[in-house]
Amino acid sequence: MNKITVIGAGNVGATCANVIAHKDLANEVVLLDVKEGLAEGKALDIWQTSSINHFNTRVTGSTNDYLKTKGSGIIVITSGIPRKPGMSRDDLIKTNASIVKEVTEKAIKYSPDAIIIVVSNPLDVMTYAAFLAANKDPHKVFGMAGILDTGRYKAFLASALEVSPTDIHAMLLGGHGDTMVPLPRYTSVSGIPVTELLGPAVIEKIVERTRKGGGELVSLIGTSAWYAPGAAVSQMVEAIVDDQKRIFPVCAYLDGEYGQKNLYLGVPVKLGKGGVEEIIEISLNAEEKKLLTSSVDSVKKVMKVLDDMKLFEE
Ligand code: LAC
Repeated sequence: MNKITVIGAGNVGATCANVIAHKDLANEVVLLDVKEGLAEGKALDIWQTSSINHFNTRVTGSTNDYLKTKGSGIIVITSGIPRKPGMSRDDLIKTNASIVKEVTEKAIKYSPDAIIIVVSNPLDVMTYAAFLAANKDPHKVFGMAGILDTGRYKAFLASALEVSPTDIHAMLLGGHGDTMVPLPRYTSVSGIPVTELLGPAVIEKIVERTRKGGGELVSLIGTSAWYAPGAAVSQMVEAIVDDQKRIFPVCAYLDGEYGQKNLYLGVPVKLGKGGVEEIIEISLNAEEKKLLTSSVDSVKKVMKVLDDMKLFEE
Protein backbone atom coordinates (compact mmCIF):
# COMPACT_ATOMS: atom_id res chain seq x y z
CA MET A 1 0.00 0.00 0.00
CA ASN A 2 1.25 3.47 -0.83
CA LYS A 3 -0.12 5.62 1.91
CA ILE A 4 -1.90 5.16 5.21
CA THR A 5 -3.17 8.12 7.23
CA VAL A 6 -3.58 8.10 10.99
CA ILE A 7 -5.64 11.01 12.29
CA GLY A 8 -4.93 11.99 15.87
CA ALA A 9 -1.35 11.92 17.14
CA GLY A 10 -2.22 11.11 20.74
CA ASN A 11 -1.04 7.93 22.39
CA VAL A 12 -3.22 5.60 20.30
CA GLY A 13 -2.60 7.34 16.97
CA ALA A 14 1.15 7.55 17.48
CA THR A 15 1.31 3.89 18.54
CA CYS A 16 -0.67 2.89 15.42
CA ALA A 17 1.73 4.80 13.19
CA ASN A 18 4.69 3.26 15.01
CA VAL A 19 3.47 -0.34 14.65
CA ILE A 20 2.37 0.13 11.04
CA ALA A 21 5.83 1.52 10.21
CA HIS A 22 7.63 -1.25 12.07
CA LYS A 23 5.68 -3.81 10.08
CA ASP A 24 6.46 -1.97 6.83
CA LEU A 25 2.80 -2.05 5.86
CA ALA A 26 2.98 1.04 3.61
CA ASN A 27 5.37 3.28 1.73
CA GLU A 28 4.25 6.19 3.83
CA VAL A 29 2.32 6.77 7.04
CA VAL A 30 0.95 10.28 7.51
CA LEU A 31 0.19 11.24 11.08
CA LEU A 32 -2.13 14.25 11.39
CA ASP A 33 -3.24 16.25 14.41
CA VAL A 34 -4.80 19.64 15.13
CA LYS A 35 -2.21 20.47 17.76
CA GLU A 36 0.61 22.51 16.18
CA GLY A 37 3.76 20.42 15.75
CA LEU A 38 2.57 17.33 17.66
CA ALA A 39 2.14 15.04 14.64
CA GLU A 40 5.32 16.32 12.98
CA GLY A 41 7.30 15.71 16.17
CA LYS A 42 6.00 12.22 16.84
CA ALA A 43 6.35 11.26 13.16
CA LEU A 44 9.94 12.48 13.14
CA ASP A 45 10.70 10.53 16.31
CA ILE A 46 9.27 7.32 14.81
CA TRP A 47 11.05 7.90 11.48
CA GLN A 48 14.34 8.25 13.37
CA THR A 49 13.95 4.65 14.58
CA SER A 50 13.86 3.35 10.99
CA SER A 51 17.57 2.62 10.66
CA ILE A 52 17.69 1.16 14.17
CA ASN A 53 14.65 -1.08 13.78
CA HIS A 54 15.06 -1.74 10.05
CA PHE A 55 11.96 -0.47 8.32
CA ASN A 56 11.41 1.64 5.23
CA THR A 57 7.96 3.11 5.80
CA ARG A 58 8.37 6.88 5.63
CA VAL A 59 6.60 8.46 8.59
CA THR A 60 5.52 12.07 8.14
CA GLY A 61 3.46 14.44 10.24
CA SER A 62 1.07 17.26 9.50
CA THR A 63 -0.73 19.91 11.53
CA ASN A 64 -4.23 19.67 10.11
CA ASP A 65 -3.17 19.83 6.44
CA TYR A 66 -5.33 17.16 4.82
CA LEU A 67 -3.72 17.71 1.43
CA LYS A 68 -0.78 15.70 2.80
CA THR A 69 -3.12 12.73 3.28
CA LYS A 70 -4.26 12.75 -0.35
CA GLY A 71 -4.61 9.33 -1.96
CA SER A 72 -4.51 7.25 1.23
CA GLY A 73 -5.67 3.64 0.96
CA ILE A 74 -6.59 3.45 4.64
CA ILE A 75 -7.53 6.20 7.08
CA VAL A 76 -7.40 5.41 10.79
CA ILE A 77 -9.41 7.81 12.96
CA THR A 78 -8.26 8.07 16.56
CA SER A 79 -9.33 11.69 17.16
CA GLY A 80 -11.23 12.79 20.22
CA ILE A 81 -10.76 12.99 23.95
CA PRO A 82 -9.89 9.82 25.86
CA ARG A 83 -11.49 8.67 29.09
CA LYS A 84 -10.45 9.92 32.52
CA PRO A 85 -10.97 7.82 35.65
CA GLY A 86 -14.68 7.55 36.52
CA MET A 87 -15.85 8.22 32.94
CA SER A 88 -17.53 5.65 30.73
CA ARG A 89 -16.80 5.55 27.01
CA ASP A 90 -20.32 6.87 26.48
CA ASP A 91 -19.51 10.08 28.39
CA LEU A 92 -17.33 11.11 25.46
CA ILE A 93 -20.01 11.27 22.79
CA LYS A 94 -20.90 14.95 22.90
CA THR A 95 -17.32 16.02 22.28
CA ASN A 96 -16.14 13.22 20.04
CA ALA A 97 -19.09 12.97 17.63
CA SER A 98 -18.45 16.43 16.15
CA ILE A 99 -14.71 15.76 15.96
CA VAL A 100 -15.18 12.41 14.20
CA LYS A 101 -17.65 13.95 11.74
CA GLU A 102 -15.30 16.80 10.89
CA VAL A 103 -12.14 14.74 10.42
CA THR A 104 -13.96 12.09 8.38
CA GLU A 105 -15.39 14.69 6.00
CA LYS A 106 -12.03 16.38 5.55
CA ALA A 107 -10.10 13.14 5.08
CA ILE A 108 -12.53 11.50 2.67
CA LYS A 109 -12.39 14.56 0.42
CA TYR A 110 -8.75 13.80 -0.39
CA SER A 111 -9.04 9.99 -0.31
CA PRO A 112 -12.52 9.10 -1.55
CA ASP A 113 -11.62 5.42 -2.05
CA ALA A 114 -10.04 4.90 1.35
CA ILE A 115 -11.08 2.26 3.85
CA ILE A 116 -11.84 3.94 7.19
CA ILE A 117 -11.02 2.33 10.53
CA VAL A 118 -12.48 4.14 13.53
CA VAL A 119 -10.91 3.90 16.99
CA SER A 120 -12.51 6.91 18.74
CA ASN A 121 -14.93 6.24 21.60
CA PRO A 122 -17.76 5.49 22.18
CA LEU A 123 -16.57 3.16 19.45
CA ASP A 124 -19.72 1.64 18.00
CA VAL A 125 -21.50 4.97 17.71
CA MET A 126 -18.43 6.88 16.50
CA THR A 127 -18.06 4.30 13.75
CA TYR A 128 -21.66 4.99 12.78
CA ALA A 129 -20.92 8.73 12.78
CA ALA A 130 -17.93 8.19 10.47
CA PHE A 131 -20.11 6.07 8.18
CA LEU A 132 -22.67 8.89 7.93
CA ALA A 133 -19.95 11.50 7.41
CA ALA A 134 -18.11 9.47 4.78
CA ASN A 135 -21.32 8.56 3.00
CA LYS A 136 -19.84 5.41 1.50
CA ASP A 137 -20.19 1.64 1.36
CA PRO A 138 -20.34 0.39 4.98
CA HIS A 139 -18.04 -2.51 4.08
CA LYS A 140 -15.32 0.13 3.89
CA VAL A 141 -16.11 1.89 7.17
CA PHE A 142 -15.70 -0.08 10.38
CA GLY A 143 -14.30 0.10 13.87
CA MET A 144 -11.56 -1.49 15.95
CA ALA A 145 -12.53 -2.94 19.29
CA GLY A 146 -12.90 -6.71 19.10
CA ILE A 147 -9.22 -7.45 18.49
CA LEU A 148 -8.35 -5.29 21.48
CA ASP A 149 -11.01 -6.89 23.67
CA THR A 150 -10.08 -10.45 22.65
CA GLY A 151 -6.42 -9.47 23.06
CA ARG A 152 -7.14 -8.67 26.70
CA TYR A 153 -9.21 -11.82 27.13
CA LYS A 154 -6.41 -13.95 25.62
CA ALA A 155 -3.78 -12.31 27.83
CA PHE A 156 -5.82 -13.10 30.96
CA LEU A 157 -6.40 -16.68 29.79
CA ALA A 158 -2.71 -17.14 28.94
CA SER A 159 -1.75 -15.99 32.44
CA ALA A 160 -4.30 -18.32 34.09
CA LEU A 161 -3.32 -21.32 31.97
CA GLU A 162 0.39 -20.54 31.77
CA VAL A 163 0.36 -21.11 28.02
CA SER A 164 1.37 -19.05 25.02
CA PRO A 165 -1.19 -16.36 24.25
CA THR A 166 -0.61 -17.10 20.56
CA ASP A 167 -2.21 -20.54 21.00
CA ILE A 168 -5.46 -19.02 22.23
CA HIS A 169 -8.26 -18.39 19.74
CA ALA A 170 -11.34 -16.52 20.79
CA MET A 171 -14.40 -14.70 19.52
CA LEU A 172 -16.41 -11.92 21.06
CA LEU A 173 -19.63 -10.11 20.17
CA GLY A 174 -21.35 -6.85 20.99
CA GLY A 175 -20.47 -3.26 21.69
CA HIS A 176 -17.13 -1.99 22.98
CA GLY A 177 -18.34 -1.41 26.52
CA ASP A 178 -18.96 -3.23 29.75
CA THR A 179 -21.76 -5.23 28.11
CA MET A 180 -19.46 -6.81 25.50
CA VAL A 181 -19.94 -10.55 25.11
CA PRO A 182 -16.77 -12.68 25.24
CA LEU A 183 -17.70 -16.20 24.11
CA PRO A 184 -16.04 -19.01 26.12
CA ARG A 185 -17.91 -21.53 23.94
CA TYR A 186 -15.96 -20.18 20.98
CA THR A 187 -12.62 -20.03 22.80
CA SER A 188 -9.94 -22.68 22.36
CA VAL A 189 -6.33 -23.37 23.20
CA SER A 190 -4.82 -24.94 20.08
CA GLY A 191 -8.21 -26.44 19.31
CA ILE A 192 -8.96 -27.61 22.86
CA PRO A 193 -12.13 -25.91 24.12
CA VAL A 194 -11.18 -23.62 27.00
CA THR A 195 -14.12 -25.06 28.94
CA GLU A 196 -12.10 -28.33 29.12
CA LEU A 197 -9.17 -26.55 30.72
CA LEU A 198 -10.66 -24.06 33.16
CA GLY A 199 -13.67 -24.25 35.49
CA PRO A 200 -16.72 -22.02 34.94
CA ALA A 201 -15.94 -19.76 37.91
CA VAL A 202 -12.43 -18.96 36.65
CA ILE A 203 -13.72 -18.36 33.12
CA GLU A 204 -16.47 -16.07 34.40
CA LYS A 205 -13.93 -14.03 36.36
CA ILE A 206 -11.78 -13.63 33.25
CA VAL A 207 -14.80 -12.68 31.14
CA GLU A 208 -15.76 -10.05 33.71
CA ARG A 209 -12.22 -8.66 33.84
CA THR A 210 -12.21 -8.49 30.03
CA ARG A 211 -15.47 -6.51 29.99
CA LYS A 212 -13.93 -3.95 32.32
CA GLY A 213 -10.46 -4.25 30.75
CA GLY A 214 -10.37 -0.72 29.36
CA GLY A 215 -11.55 0.73 32.68
CA GLU A 216 -8.90 -1.22 34.60
CA LEU A 217 -6.25 0.54 32.54
CA VAL A 218 -7.89 3.98 32.86
CA SER A 219 -7.77 3.54 36.66
CA LEU A 220 -4.14 2.49 36.59
CA ILE A 221 -2.80 5.03 34.09
CA GLY A 222 -5.24 7.93 34.47
CA THR A 223 -6.14 7.88 30.77
CA SER A 224 -7.04 5.18 28.27
CA ALA A 225 -4.70 2.52 26.98
CA TRP A 226 -2.62 2.73 23.78
CA TYR A 227 -0.21 -0.17 23.26
CA ALA A 228 -2.89 -2.83 22.75
CA PRO A 229 -5.29 -0.51 20.86
CA GLY A 230 -2.46 0.55 18.52
CA ALA A 231 -1.37 -3.04 17.93
CA ALA A 232 -4.96 -4.12 17.29
CA VAL A 233 -5.49 -1.47 14.62
CA SER A 234 -2.25 -2.50 12.95
CA GLN A 235 -3.41 -6.11 12.77
CA MET A 236 -6.51 -4.93 10.91
CA VAL A 237 -4.40 -2.77 8.60
CA GLU A 238 -2.15 -5.76 7.86
CA ALA A 239 -5.14 -8.00 7.03
CA ILE A 240 -6.39 -5.37 4.56
CA VAL A 241 -3.03 -4.51 3.01
CA ASP A 242 -2.06 -8.17 2.51
CA ASP A 243 -5.64 -9.26 1.68
CA GLN A 244 -5.34 -11.94 4.35
CA LYS A 245 -9.07 -12.75 4.71
CA ARG A 246 -8.58 -13.04 8.45
CA ILE A 247 -11.51 -13.68 10.75
CA PHE A 248 -11.65 -11.04 13.46
CA PRO A 249 -14.26 -9.48 15.69
CA VAL A 250 -14.81 -6.05 14.12
CA CYS A 251 -17.33 -3.28 14.71
CA ALA A 252 -19.28 -3.69 11.47
CA TYR A 253 -22.48 -2.42 9.90
CA LEU A 254 -25.34 -4.86 10.37
CA ASP A 255 -28.04 -5.10 7.75
CA GLY A 256 -30.16 -7.89 9.15
CA GLU A 257 -27.34 -10.04 10.54
CA TYR A 258 -27.84 -11.07 14.18
CA GLY A 259 -31.37 -9.70 13.84
CA GLN A 260 -30.12 -6.10 13.72
CA LYS A 261 -30.44 -3.49 11.04
CA ASN A 262 -28.79 -0.12 10.56
CA LEU A 263 -26.50 -0.60 13.55
CA TYR A 264 -22.73 -0.88 14.06
CA LEU A 265 -21.76 -3.69 16.43
CA GLY A 266 -18.88 -6.05 17.15
CA VAL A 267 -19.29 -9.30 15.15
CA PRO A 268 -17.00 -11.84 13.47
CA VAL A 269 -16.04 -10.71 9.97
CA LYS A 270 -13.71 -11.67 7.17
CA LEU A 271 -11.22 -8.85 6.67
CA GLY A 272 -9.39 -8.42 3.36
CA LYS A 273 -8.58 -5.84 0.73
CA GLY A 274 -12.28 -5.09 0.26
CA GLY A 275 -12.61 -4.24 3.95
CA VAL A 276 -15.36 -6.21 5.69
CA GLU A 277 -15.84 -8.84 3.00
CA GLU A 278 -18.28 -11.00 4.95
CA ILE A 279 -20.10 -10.99 8.26
CA ILE A 280 -20.11 -14.39 9.87
CA GLU A 281 -23.21 -15.35 11.81
CA ILE A 282 -22.43 -17.90 14.49
CA SER A 283 -25.11 -19.77 16.38
CA LEU A 284 -25.79 -18.56 19.90
CA ASN A 285 -27.44 -20.30 22.84
CA ALA A 286 -30.17 -18.64 24.90
CA GLU A 287 -27.75 -17.15 27.43
CA GLU A 288 -25.46 -15.73 24.73
CA LYS A 289 -28.45 -14.26 22.89
CA LYS A 290 -29.60 -12.58 26.08
CA LEU A 291 -26.17 -11.04 26.66
CA LEU A 292 -26.03 -9.84 23.06
CA THR A 293 -29.46 -8.25 23.35
CA SER A 294 -28.36 -6.32 26.41
CA SER A 295 -25.22 -5.16 24.58
CA VAL A 296 -27.32 -4.07 21.59
CA ASP A 297 -29.61 -2.15 23.92
CA SER A 298 -26.73 -0.25 25.45
CA VAL A 299 -25.29 0.65 22.03
CA LYS A 300 -28.74 1.82 20.90
CA LYS A 301 -29.00 4.07 23.93
CA VAL A 302 -25.83 5.88 22.87
CA MET A 303 -27.05 5.91 19.24
CA LYS A 304 -30.07 7.83 20.47
CA VAL A 305 -27.77 10.49 21.95
CA LEU A 306 -26.10 10.80 18.54
CA ASP A 307 -29.49 11.06 16.81
CA ASP A 308 -30.62 13.73 19.25
CA MET A 309 -27.52 15.79 18.50
CA LYS A 310 -28.90 16.19 14.95
CA LEU A 311 -25.34 16.49 13.63
CA PHE A 312 -26.19 14.90 10.34
CA GLU A 313 -29.28 16.86 9.43
CA GLU A 314 -28.95 19.38 6.64
C1 LAC B 1 -9.88 0.81 25.70
C2 LAC B 1 -10.27 2.06 25.01
C3 LAC B 1 -9.34 2.40 23.91
O1 LAC B 1 -10.68 -0.13 25.70
O2 LAC B 1 -11.58 2.00 24.57
O3 LAC B 1 -8.76 0.76 26.22
